[in-house]
Amino acid sequence: MNIDTRYNSLNFKTSYKKVLTPNFVLGETYECSTYFFVKDFQWNKFFNYIIDKFKSTPKVNIFSLACSDGSEAYSIAMLLLSKLGNNAQKFFPITAVDFDKDITQNAKNGFMDLSAEDEVRINKYTGNKLNKFFSKTDKTFLSDKMGGTNKQVLLTRFRTKPILRDKVLFVTEDINTYIDKLPNNNNLIFCRNCWPYLWKTSEKFARKVSDKMDMSSYLITGNYDTLMCPINGTASYGLSLSKEFQNVYDKSGNNYFDDMRLFFSEIKDDI
Ligand SMILES: C[S@@+](CC[C@H](N)C(=O)[O-])C[C@H]1O[C@@H](n2cnc3c(N)ncnc32)[C@H](O)[C@@H]1O
Repeated sequence: MNIDTRYNSLNFKTSYKKVLTPNFVLGETYECSTYFFVKDFQWNKFFNYIIDKFKSTPKVNIFSLACSDGSEAYSIAMLLLSKLGNNAQKFFPITAVDFDKDITQNAKNGFMDLSAEDEVRINKYTGNKLNKFFSKTDKTFLSDKMGGTNKQVLLTRFRTKPILRDKVLFVTEDINTYIDKLPNNNNLIFCRNCWPYLWKTSEKFARKVSDKMDMSSYLITGNYDTLMCPINGTASYGLSLSKEFQNVYDKSGNNYFDDMRLFFSEIKDDI
């Protein structure tokens, strides 16, 4: 697929397409930006449901694929700790995977650059427990804001405390290969706001994600995925978008509805 075909395939308003640089569209550079308790996901509603659904299940596997600096994985860990305390153990460790070495290295060390809004959102979702999970630090570190370039920025301010840091295992790897290592059941697969970067492999990757999901597994995507990826899919690999939860897919089949929006290539009818 060349750049013109890629531009045309984007489910994107023409005005937006114009501001995208070719190397961004082609996935040679990528945004690493993220934040805590992102707004396109129903954190409490989803995890209250999950806690109840898996109350008799000994182990639940959580993955944050394309995890960036770890904000997503740490948000999940803090929410579960706030809701369940020691009983959250069966959800840990959360495995967080990204191919960007700088951000995963900082994440492993627990260095975070919390914005003022991050602080507010963490306190909101954890019942004012920011200080339980983070300590202030004067240490500075370099991190990528735009992966695949030399644009590194100096960040500082916070470090995760061991009670939080211990709950997440960071892995530096391409998710196209890491996906093969997932177990086959009880998986919560957060794979959000990175599908546009996977456009060369998205169909194969989607099939692998689906293969790793049983009836008790969920795939969570992001608004950016829906915006940037073509919505021409009649192929769903058995996944359907939940009516109940925003940006959540499962294999129940119950949620299937006409506005099925998944970003897979079309498979022609073979009749
Ligand atoms: C915009 S961030 C998404 C962060 C987070 N998932 C969220 O929704 O807030 C995109 C991330 O995808 C990562 N990424 C892109 N392609 C990847 C690949 N093939 N394997 C692993 N990580 C990838 C980038 O390094 C970047 O950190």
